Amino acid sequence: MAYSLNNKIFALLTLLLLCFNCKNETEAKPTEEKKEKPELIMHKPSEMANFMNGMYAYNMQIKQQIINGEIPASMPLDLMKLHSAEMSNGHARTPVWNSFVNVFIESQQSVVDTLSNVELKERYNATINNCLACHKTECTGPIPKIKKLLIQ
Ligand code: HEC
Repeated sequence: MAYSLNNKIFALLTLLLLCFNCKNETEAKPTEEKKEKPELIMHKPSEMANFMNGMYAYNMQIKQQIINGEIPASMPLDLMKLHSAEMSNGHARTPVWNSFVNVFIESQQSVVDTLSNVELKERYNATINNCLACHKTECTGPIPKIKKLLIQ
């Protein structure tokens, strides 16, 4: 009695093991293929990310000029790219983006407006605060880095 029960259990276990084996064999191939393809494409920075890094570098330079007492007079960035550049996955021109982008463009242009009667440092810091305003909802990662652009 006990012997035949053990036998049945043994047979069942063997069957189960065989089942797992077939499963493993059929599943092994697709997962291997999955791993190889997409990762090669993923880490290329988007056109927008490149442009953002360009704006960062430009404003770092302007900050240094202002600290040195110089008056920056040229703004070589093509800010219209903000309306056209392709963005990376997960980012888009949301209503929030649209509500911030033109305000930002105007403030960035005002930094080199030599006829303005607002103090240069104030115009510059307002620009950086506009970077931060959009970043608070649209892309929080670079916020600590952008804060370093502010002139204390
Ligand atoms: C209107 C919204 C908005 C404004 C204004 C804005 N940003 Fe961005 N920024 C974004 C979004 C969205 C991304 C993500 C873009 C992507 O990954 O395609 C981004 C990405 C970045 C990045 C990361 C780039 C990378 O390598 O992934 C930096 C740095 C950055 N911005 C700095 C700035 C600075 C400096 C300013 C102001 C001079 C600024 N941003 C103004 C929305 C904005």
